[in-house]
Amino acid sequence: MAPPVGIVTGGSSGIGWALVQHLVSMGWNVVIADVHPPKESIPNNKTLYVRTDVSSWEQQADMFKQAYAWGKRLDFCALNAGIDDRDDIFNSLSYDVDKPPKQPNTRTFSVNLTGTYYGIKLAAHYMTIPSKHGGKAKLGGKIIVTSSGTGLFPTPGIPQYSATKHALVGLVRALGRSKAALEANVRINAVCPAIVATGALPPGLLDVIPPNQITPMSTILRCFDALGDFGDVGHDDWVEQGRMGETVEGNVQDLIWHHPPVRPQGQGGSFAREKGALAVAQVYKERNRQFAIAGE
Ligand SMILES: NC(=O)c1ccc[n+]([C@@H]2O[C@H](COP(=O)([O-])OP(=O)(O)OC[C@H]3O[C@@H](n4cnc5c(N)ncnc54)[C@H](O)[C@@H]3O)[C@@H](O)[C@H]2O)c1
Repeated sequence: MAPPVGIVTGGSSGIGWALVQHLVSMGWNVVIADVHPPKESIPNNKTLYVRTDVSSWEQQADMFKQAYAWGKRLDFCALNAGIDDRDDIFNSLSYDVDKPPKQPNTRTFSVNLTGTYYGIKLAAHYMTIPSKHGGKAKLGGKIIVTSSGTGLFPTPGIPQYSATKHALVGLVRALGRSKAALEANVRINAVCPAIVATGALPPGLLDVIPPNQITPMSTILRCFDALGDFGDVGHDDWVEQGRMGETVEGNVQDLIWHHPPVRPQGQGGSFAREKGALAVAQVYKERNRQFAIAGE
């Protein structure tokens, strides 16, 4: 079989770079999509770097096109690029009627949320193209989104970041229950790292966190393995047997699985969430499909 192919956004450093090395060590070919090139190189043309700002539709679409032309297939996509807050609300109040706030910088939303949505849309497209090159026995593939522990628990220091990471959990849970995604044979899940010592952390953060509360990279790779089963990619049912819509937190040495809240028995109605979920999805299906076809 031709080597399996993955894309890792934000793959030039930190968690993304560790995942790239991990995949290559298991025989994968990997496209690194990042605003900066990786500092080290991987021999034997096992990787392709494509400069990509994930918040740009054009750049991400072009990267996926190049990735598919290079790899002739797409089995896996890690939507991992992310940045922390670029604004503040309550510590920058002016208390002066003549000094209203400037328009805030919302790039965190564009990179973390919009960029990931773009990535899911493009990955689903390329994973479901019948290959002219005979690369894949079955169409479909796996997507893993990098959310965060801050996507599960409120984190007052970085509210923009925490909001986007919560949104990613919501997106994965919603798509993870989509009949159409199952039929397209695409599986989508989220990794939620706790604090990992990477370049993403601001100066001084590691000074205020006890060393035994830092999560080693090996725990995060175990999360990716638990969702991706990368070593089994050659099996016919690699995608079908995969998890769907799950959220796993990697925290210190532990993998902690998180599930959506359960409404207490006897409180409120549960029709739209349970028995009626399919009927509700059916109502939106054709309407949203038309929006997608029409585009902007
Ligand atoms: N380090 C942590 O403690 C931690 C915890 C939870 C979640 N995360 C998440 O893990 C992911 C990876 O972060 P990391 O800790 O490895 O940080 P990192 O800064 O080492 O890596 C992030 C990479 O994303 C790239 N990037 C930034 N903006 C981009 C854009 N617009 N388009 C493409 N690439 C872009 C950067 O160049 C960098 O290579 C992020 O989504 C982050 O939010 C990190």
